[in-house]
Amino acid sequence: MLDQAISQGHKADLDRMAWERDRKDPPEGFPALPSIPAARYVDADFLSLEQREMWSKAWLYAGHTDQVAEPGSWFLTRNTGSPVIVVRTLSGEIRAFYNTCKHRGAPLVKEDAGSARGFVCGYHGWSYTLDGKLTAVRDKRDFPDFDMACHSLSSVRCELLGSLIFINGDPDAQPLIEHIGPMAGALEELQLATLKLVDSREYEVDCNVKVLLDAFLEVYHLKSIHENTVDRFLDHRAMIVTLWPHGHSRMVTPNRREGWVDPGTKGMPEIPTVSEFTATNNISYHIYPNFVMPPAPTGIPLLQFWPLGPRRTRVVSSWVAPDHDAANPNPLWETRIKNWERILYEDLQFAPQIQESLEGPGFQGMSLNYQERRIYHWHEELDRRIGIDRVPQAARVEPVLAPFVDHD
Ligand code: FES
Repeated sequence: MLDQAISQGHKADLDRMAWERDRKDPPEGFPALPSIPAARYVDADFLSLEQREMWSKAWLYAGHTDQVAEPGSWFLTRNTGSPVIVVRTLSGEIRAFYNTCKHRGAPLVKEDAGSARGFVCGYHGWSYTLDGKLTAVRDKRDFPDFDMACHSLSSVRCELLGSLIFINGDPDAQPLIEHIGPMAGALEELQLATLKLVDSREYEVDCNVKVLLDAFLEVYHLKSIHENTVDRFLDHRAMIVTLWPHGHSRMVTPNRREGWVDPGTKGMPEIPTVSEFTATNNISYHIYPNFVMPPAPTGIPLLQFWPLGPRRTRVVSSWVAPDHDAANPNPLWETRIKNWERILYEDLQFAPQIQESLEGPGFQGMSLNYQERRIYHWHEELDRRIGIDRVPQAARVEPVLAPFVDHD
């Protein structure tokens, strides 16, 4: 029954691609998108509002379960704004805590990863269990009426999407799977819980995080930026978009040649349940605000875009794949990751100059087209999360895309 539903959905997607390829105009009723105000990319007050009201309350990818494979193993992520420890407890649960001692705020761990039976603060020796309970305080006699139970580590919401660990600084956040809604069903064929971590590397770029994010939400730029790479095999004019609630979205771009498969992946193990549609088209999922995932049967890059400041961005590119043996990796990975980096560099190389240009008087706003509507969807969601009344009038984005959001 599920297979039938999926294939009917994919049949509809193929029909939409054919329509997109031949259309002369956007679909009837699709509005001209209003300009995105320049302030949203350059204004310090707006960017701190964005950080405070959106990023600190969003579901953000922290890492992979392979990084906490054994009870006691932990890693530290600094990408999400405040340093957070992600740890597998002795009972096997994955938890997340701010890396902040409850005495005077020293960090509990200083390395990027490790293994422990508990956390001992290096400043005055307070000790915590792996699930954050304070168990020992040096010279406790000097803290009158001290209640150990009130000094557990501050926990951070932590939930799984298969083997992918997401955290959220908002204790009242909607559960992750519920939050991504219809996308959760679409991802089932990928068996994310079974995929192993292959590689992870990062790059820093001098631009606002949205300058780079925008590039990964559209394929309008392929002919210019990726003329000798991606544009040779993807047909951007037949691309289809699905906008989902909460700012999430999907873009599917067909290959120019039907059935084309990256020759560099031939012979690599495949996720057995991936549909032919997914295997032979380029799908890119976006989990709001900063997680981009274009799956292939032989492996999936996980891209994350992190704001390090108003004009500094960290891009993390990780790979997950089926049947990966970290001790004996498939030699094809080296070339595959190198080819992926080449495409990534094409996207990154232009960004600092774009930022410089955005900061000049020549930029008053961004004019987006129908193909770029995922970017507009992103901005509409940002205003909803900030709270429209809190967004300065001059920086607001007029909401126009509600009729085009898919709730199923
Ligand atoms: Fe951690 Fe003092 S700051 S024990």
